[in-house]
Formats: sequence, structure tokens, C-alpha cells
Amino acid sequence: MPRRIVVVGTGTGVGKTWLSCALLRRLQTLGHTALGLKPIESGVTPGADTDAAALAAAGFGTGHGASPVGTLPYRLPDPISPHLAALRAGVTIELPVALRYVQEQESVIAGHASPVTLIESAGGLFSPLGPGISNFDLARALDPAAWLLVAPDSLGVLHDLTATLLAARSLGRMPDAIALCRARPADASTGTNAEEVARLGIGPRPWLFANEDAAELAALAGALVR
Ligand SMILES: Nc1ncnc2c1ncn2[C@@H]1O[C@H](COP(=O)(O)OP(=O)(O)OP(=O)(O)O)[C@@H](O)[C@H]1O
Ligand SMILES: [Mg+2]
Repeated sequence: MPRRIVVVGTGTGVGKTWLSCALLRRLQTLGHTALGLKPIESGVTPGADTDAAALAAAGFGTGHGASPVGTLPYRLPDPISPHLAALRAGVTIELPVALRYVQEQESVIAGHASPVTLIESAGGLFSPLGPGISNFDLARALDPAAWLLVAPDSLGVLHDLTATLLAARSLGRMPDAIALCRARPADASTGTNAEEVARLGIGPRPWLFANEDAAELAALAGALVR
């Protein structure tokens, strides 16, 4: 079975896709067969740049000779929360369907060298997917996996990480690693946040990605894929 990395965030636009693509490229360079998937995505309209396509291009995909199997289960046109985009599309998001899609894709790389699947969730860790279900439940359904929590290296992140980690701890499943990305214009807090997260005891010291640092990506890949 391929090993799994689940990429979750403190919110939307925090750097999940950016870091996922960088990580997929690095994993491939390190000799893994790394497949990037986004089973649930909103804002998917004809001609739009999708995260699913970016992940497929960065990792092992159709460009590498694999034939696509199955179809992406939840490609929702409205650029809003997946739960509302699904409601408007007349669709109910079901975790077993998303899980089956991931397993189906994993079967494509199962026979390849050191297979790894990376799954990006849509929005924040507690963004709703429907009544009573959120990305946290999706990530749980994808366990056993390494959960990477992505947040922006900008003002407000100490609160957002505190709140996200408190909620995760109360539900009994903490992310395995945290990464801060340059997803926003730099502000006065940029560059201080990783250290403050550790110093204040908010969480483990985050990995910091101001750019696509090959050594740092390789170290993160090693921490996530054991
Ligand atoms: N470390 C970084 N360095 C430079 N730019 C970055 C970095 N991380 C993120 N960005 C930029 O920030 C923006 C938002 O990032 P991204 O699309 O990866 O967020 P996301 O969390 O995947 O969003 P969504 O919730 O829509 O999936 C993008 O323009 C991306 O290129
Ligand atoms: Mg994204």
C-alpha cells in the first residue's frame, strides 16, 4: 500500500497546493512515486486552473505514462465552501466515496517504486463538507496517514494555529507536522511566527517555506514518509 500524506490547512489560500506541489516534485526526485490528489474541490469550472490538475502535473500522473482510473468524485462549480457548493450542485459529499477514489488512484502506483499518495483537502481542517462532517473527518477516513497542517507565515497565524490545534487535540488526533508558507504578502510578523509557535507552546516548531528550498523539502518529506 502506498503511504499517505494528508495536507490540511488553517484555512483557504494558505499554501496547501503550493507546498503540496513542491513536496511532490521533491518526493519524485528522492525516488518515490508520488501521486497528488484533491478528491473534493470547489470552483471547478471549464477552463479554470484546478488544484487537482496542479497536483497531477507536479507528481506522478498521466504525464508519466499512467492512465487515469475512475473520475474525480466531487468537482463542484461554485467557488465557495465545498458543503455549499455541493448543496448547490445537488450533491451529498460522502467520505466512503472520497476514500474509494483515493484507493482507486493508489492502485495505479501500487506496483511502482516507493509509492506515496498526497491528498489535499479543500479549505481549512474544520471547513464543513456537509452537516456534521468536515475535513477533519475526511482526514480521519484517510488514516493511517501523516497529516501536514499548512498555515500562512503572517499576522493572525498564532491564533489560527492555536484554535486549530486545540480543536484537533480535543478530538484526539493532532496533525503530525506544521508548515508555514509565504502565501500572503510579508507583514511585521513574517519570519517570527515559526519560532513563536514553538516558544509559546502552541505546537511543535513549524517547518518554514519562504521559497522552494530543496533541503528543507527533503527533510520534511523524510519526516512525513518514514
Ligand atoms: N511558500 C510560498 N512561497 C511563495 N508563494 C506561495 C507560498 N505558499 C503559497 N504561495 C502562494 O499563495 C497563494 C495561495 O496558495 P495555495 O493556492 O497553495 O493555497 P491553498 O491553501 O491551496 O488554497 P485553497 O484553499 O484554495 O486550496 C498562491 O498564489 C501560491 O502561489
Ligand atoms: Mg489549494
